[in-house]
Amino acid sequence: MIFRQLFEPVSCTYSYLIASRRGGEALIIDPVLEKVDRYLQLMKELDVHLVKAVDTHLHADHITGLGALRDRTHCITVMGEQSSVDVVSMRIADGDRLTIEGVSMDVIYTPGHTDDSYSFHMQDRVFTGDTLMIRGTGRTDFQNGDPRAQYESLFGRLLRLPDETMVFPAHDYKGDTVSTIGEEKAFNPRLQVKSVEEYAALMNSLKLGNPKMMDVAVPANMRQGLHQEEVARRGWAYRAKEARDIVGQPGVVLIDLREKDERKRHGSIPGALHAPYPELPENIGVGGMLRKLAETEGHKQLLFYCAFGERSAMAVQAAQDAGIASARHIEGGIAAWKKAGGALG
Ligand SMILES: [Fe+2]
Repeated sequence: MIFRQLFEPVSCTYSYLIASRRGGEALIIDPVLEKVDRYLQLMKELDVHLVKAVDTHLHADHITGLGALRDRTHCITVMGEQSSVDVVSMRIADGDRLTIEGVSMDVIYTPGHTDDSYSFHMQDRVFTGDTLMIRGTGRTDFQNGDPRAQYESLFGRLLRLPDETMVFPAHDYKGDTVSTIGEEKAFNPRLQVKSVEEYAALMNSLKLGNPKMMDVAVPANMRQGLHQEEVARRGWAYRAKEARDIVGQPGVVLIDLREKDERKRHGSIPGALHAPYPELPENIGVGGMLRKLAETEGHKQLLFYCAFGERSAMAVQAAQDAGIASARHIEGGIAAWKKAGGALG
């Protein structure tokens, strides 16, 4: 496995780059905007390509690298379903699996620091965001934080992982890089409490100042959505209502870009072909399945859709760039389709 812990010194943020092999897919957790060039350089050196950029929660102390990485690598942006960020390409929930080629993580909803905080567990390690830190825990006094919820996330979820599980947090202000669940249980001063009441009282007595970047970072981090209007302006988008009239026509191939789990959980539009977004380059490349449909087999119109219209907007752009002029997408994805009363299969 390729694993890199990367540090951003202004906000003391750790970001994590993970891939199963050289030449394979990569995932990054909690990237920081200022470090995007560094990540891209490193990924080039390691010969991996970014498929997913994930934030453990809406950060208040730095601007996320999610949007910039999406713009520069066309990766999928991922956050929890509770997140108030305008649009990310994929939303995850407790019990889901976060996967790329050769890597699979359990998604654990761990609210408390914020109401959109998640942790990710894979084999011998867990990425805890700002929920569990090294000899500390994330503050719970803003962004819908809740010390009681955090107590449950810690004692009910994270601390139940095996003691030897390595803990990789989103921040450390003292220079520590990694801990273990067993070590934190024994020595983390915030965890030496006997009840949820005691924990809440401890957290409520901290009286911390707001992070320096908060007024800038929170609003910036809430607007990470791709500009789907641009794709619409070029005439490459159908509103969900309009799409209802086109779906099912013999000249139109509807293509679902989401993952299997998303399809299972949220349903799909009847008659859609399943072609996950990460496989798009092959599918629209020379000899690719979608290119064949568009160019030879009756010159079909390609109509992409995904969860919120983010991946499909990128897919339309990529297909157009590859010379497939008939490529369109459903603006707002299956979320908009459902709102418009579209049928589900
Ligand atoms: Fe945070």
